[in-house]
Amino acid sequence: MIALITGASAGIGKELATEFAKDKIDLVLVARREENMLKHALFLETTYSVKVTVIPADLAVPNSAEKLYDEIHKRDIKINFLINNAGFGDHGEFVDSDLAKQEEMINLNILTLTKLTRLFGADMKLRNQGTILNVASDAAFRPGPMMSVYFATKHYVLAFSEAIAEELRPYGVYVCTLCPGSTQSEFGEMAGFGKLDPDSSNPTSAEVAAFAFRQMKKKKVVFIHGLKIKLRAFLTRVMPKGLVRRWVYSQMT
Ligand SMILES: NC(=O)c1ccc[n+]([C@@H]2O[C@H](COP(=O)([O-])OP(=O)(O)OC[C@H]3O[C@@H](n4cnc5c(N)ncnc54)[C@H](OP(=O)(O)O)[C@@H]3O)[C@@H](O)[C@H]2O)c1
Repeated sequence: MIALITGASAGIGKELATEFAKDKIDLVLVARREENMLKHALFLETTYSVKVTVIPADLAVPNSAEKLYDEIHKRDIKINFLINNAGFGDHGEFVDSDLAKQEEMINLNILTLTKLTRLFGADMKLRNQGTILNVASDAAFRPGPMMSVYFATKHYVLAFSEAIAEELRPYGVYVCTLCPGSTQSEFGEMAGFGKLDPDSSNPTSAEVAAFAFRQMKKKKVVFIHGLKIKLRAFLTRVMPKGLVRRWVYSQMT
């Protein structure tokens, strides 16, 4: 069995790689920082006796999904688990934002995830076997003033993944979505609001990855990490929308 994990050089993706390795599943790790992945690959190979392939790639480039798919086919690797985890956010008022950065975010969080799901999903359908885990966010449950594009990309990921889950179910292909809340990783620095306090109540990437792996094994379709985040996701769905918008805005400024 082989799992392909995008965004495997840091944070949740790196820890998901560890979870798969512990379960004796071979890995293909993809992200831009090759050094980080090679170091982690060595650790996983020596600790868990799995085979780890590292493919450095910038997945925010429009045709990167096709290139990655072709590369994997060329190496004759059969992917049983596709983990679309790579993603980033950007904090600030939308009209003042760097437009190129918003485009990269949409490419990575939406376009590449969609294309990889399409390409590897078709192979899985033919084989009547496979798992796709897409990483959304609890941002998928409410609008996100001050991170508008990021939140919207995660709405897409959740809606798309739930629909595909139903389409692929009759073919024996299982699709699920992880919706983490704030998690200790490099995400905050990348989004421009700084590093989370390691002593904060926010879970570590390792805790979120272990949770996701357990839920995936139980074949859950959508999973939200943590009771507080589950409750917030529920409340934001039943509260008046205007109130939710103003509340999120006040939290994000
Ligand atoms: N941390 C949170 O609070 C939180 C909450 C909800 C959802 N999430 C979601 O969880 C997922 C993982 O985030 P994280 O928290 O683990 O953040 P992270 O520590 O910043 O990790 C992000 C990963 O994505 C990769 N990545 C970023 N841009 C890329 C690109 N252009 N091409 C290829 N790979 C790229 C990074 O690798 P390179 O830089 O080496 O390319 C890194 O491995 C994301 O989809 C994020 O939206 C995070």
